[in-house]
Amino acid sequence: MNILAIETSFDETAAAVVKDGTEVVSSTIATSKDFHDKYGGVLPDLAARKQLDFILPVITAALKPLSSPTATNSELLSSNQIDAIAVTIGPGLIGSLLIGVEAAKTIAYATGRPLIPVNHVLAHMYANFLSLPQITNHKPMVNFPAISLVASGAHTELFLMKSINNLVWLGGSLDDAAGECFDKTARLLGFGMRGGIAIQESAGNYKLPVTDYKPTLPRPLIRDNSFNFSFSGLKTAVLREVSKLKSQQQLNNITIQQLSYEVQEAITDVLVKKTLEAAQTYDVKSIMISGGVAANTRLRQKLAAAKGQFKLHIPPPAFCTDNASYIGAYAYFRGKPAIWQEVTAIPDLSVEIPE
Ligand code: KG4
Ligand code: ZN
Repeated sequence: MNILAIETSFDETAAAVVKDGTEVVSSTIATSKDFHDKYGGVLPDLAARKQLDFILPVITAALKPLSSPTATNSELLSSNQIDAIAVTIGPGLIGSLLIGVEAAKTIAYATGRPLIPVNHVLAHMYANFLSLPQITNHKPMVNFPAISLVASGAHTELFLMKSINNLVWLGGSLDDAAGECFDKTARLLGFGMRGGIAIQESAGNYKLPVTDYKPTLPRPLIRDNSFNFSFSGLKTAVLREVSKLKSQQQLNNITIQQLSYEVQEAITDVLVKKTLEAAQTYDVKSIMISGGVAANTRLRQKLAAAKGQFKLHIPPPAFCTDNASYIGAYAYFRGKPAIWQEVTAIPDLSVEIPE
């Protein structure tokens, strides 16, 4: 079964064709990230307008591998190799979501194919079920039950996965998400919109302190018994450190590297501690992580070192950050076709699946 999946929840426009929930036939992504740089944050209106510019070329590019090179756009869309259309309906920015949702509804309407609405955050974890022979050279075999951490720009959530389609939400972000903390810290340290990857690179250049400056940042909620997360205090602590360094004229490459290192340690310490605690509490067989922050090499390293009796699953970095292939995987394993007239964008779609 081939699913055409569409993802437009934020500043990426993505489409993919996924076969039987696991095989990525094609995956295309465009991003408006660079256009937002000068504003110091993603502008929702601009993101929506860029979604409009990108959506048709991106869908066309995702469909191309299924047809002859000379196929017209209408032949691509009506290709009988597509069995269903999946689309992210939330959570996300309303303007961005609407572009993908309306495009998907139009294709479903025109082709008569079923339309499957998808929750973006829940879908992230299904990147762990993609077999990516070109990258990982293996088919993932997840043993259940599993603990699943989703750490993205707007969400830090822990789930118990009893089977491939049976999820229970255990806890999540009370305020800023882990990715948001990376992003805000990156801006404070002068890395603009480059976010977590810039912090990772800067932290990687950290050497043993060559100055007396040795920042110690908080690990919020690390000793609390819940599976909730809170990173806004950590961001405020970085803001205070940056102001102090600036007032002492000490904000330089070395102190920036030291702060980047400590921020990355603080965030990953909390993520690893809570994930392992959940794994022990629920006596699971596997741990899986996903979302943009799962691309972080330090997080991957710490979990690999601490995994103990659990089997660890982490998608390749390019499948942790936003793309449409896991939207197609989720739709296959857990999605339910809906009547297209009833499908609508839901910016604050909840991820809190009860027991
Ligand atoms: O899942 P994602 O692509 O988009 C959302 O659904 O939000 O996640 C984006 C987040 C951003 O906060 C970005 O800074 C973070 O993932 N991120 C990273 C890394 N790569 C992306 N954070 C830490 N280390 C990385 N290597
Ligand atoms: Zn995402």
